[in-house]
Amino acid sequence: MPSQANVFLNGDFLPLSDAKVSVLDRGFLFADGVYEVIPAYAGKLFRLQQHIDRLNSSLDAIRMPPVMSDQQWTDILTRLVEEHQQSDQSVYIQVSRGAGSSRDHQLPTEYTPTIFAMCQTIANNNLAHIAKGVQAITLDDIRWDWCHIKSVALLGNILLKQQAADQNCGEAILLRDGYATEGSASNLFIVKNKQLITPPKSHNLLPGITRDLVLELAIADGIDCIEAEISEQQLSSADEIWLTSSTKEVMPVIELNRKMIGDGKPGELWQRMAARYSDFKNQLRSQANV
Ligand code: PDD
Repeated sequence: MPSQANVFLNGDFLPLSDAKVSVLDRGFLFADGVYEVIPAYAGKLFRLQQHIDRLNSSLDAIRMPPVMSDQQWTDILTRLVEEHQQSDQSVYIQVSRGAGSSRDHQLPTEYTPTIFAMCQTIANNNLAHIAKGVQAITLDDIRWDWCHIKSVALLGNILLKQQAADQNCGEAILLRDGYATEGSASNLFIVKNKQLITPPKSHNLLPGITRDLVLELAIADGIDCIEAEISEQQLSSADEIWLTSSTKEVMPVIELNRKMIGDGKPGELWQRMAARYSDFKNQLRSQANV
C-alpha cells in the first residue's frame, strides 16, 4: 500500500490525488448515489454496524442491493482508519450506480457500482469548542420528500446551510407544515421543563445514528425523553435546543432567530448529556480494535 493511501476506490487503496472517477458516473451526472459519514476515535469506528445498516437501507431505497458484506466493509474501513493515523477522524463513504456508456435517465439493468471511501480529520470536536454552541435560524424545508435516504443529492441542504451562514449562523433548523424536523446537516432535540423531545423518524428527516445514541444515553441516565412532533412555537420557547450529528456530536444552540435560548448558554441537561457522550467516546477509545 503506498504511503497516505487514505482512499478506497473500487477495490484499491490509494492516495487521494490518484483517485479518479469517470465523468459518466451516475453519481456525478444525476446524484444517483448514497453516502455515510462514520466517526473513528483512536482508530475505533463509532457505531459501525448501525452505519452499515443505514447505508444498506439507503441503497435499498434507491433500488440497489448491498455492494458488499458487513465484514468486507469492516475490513476496508479499519484498514483506512489505521492508514490515516489520526486520533479523531471521519470516514466518508459514497456508493453510486456507476458509469454507463452515455447519459441516460433510466436505471441501467446492468452496472458496476462505484464504491468510494476516504478518511478526513475531524476538526473542532473537543468539548470546549462544542460548549461554545451555535446560533441558528429557522427556514422552510425546500428539500424533497425522501429525506430519510442519505442521498448525495444535497443541493437543498447546502443552499439552506449557506442561508444560515450568510447570517453568521452555524445551522438552519428546517420547518415543514409548521413543525421543526431537523437541521440542514443535523438532527434536532429540544428540552422543555426537563423533558427531552426529538421528532419521530419519518420521511421528513434522516434517521441519525447520533440521534439514536443520544436517546439511548438519555434513557440510561434516567432523563425523561419522548419522540414527538415539535411545533415552531415549541421550538422558539424551548429551554434548550441541541443539534446532533456524527461530526458535530451534541451541539447546543444558544440563539435562535437572534433570540437567546434559555440564558444564552448551553443548558443543564446539555451539560449532563455532553458528559455521557464523552464517557461513551472514551469507552470506545479504550476498547480493543474492531
Ligand atoms: N450529516 N440530518 C441530516 C440532514 C444530516 O446531513 C445529518 C448528518 C444528520 C445526522 O446524522 P448522523 O448522526 O448519523 O451523522 C441528520 C453528515 C454528518 C454529513 O452530511 O456530513
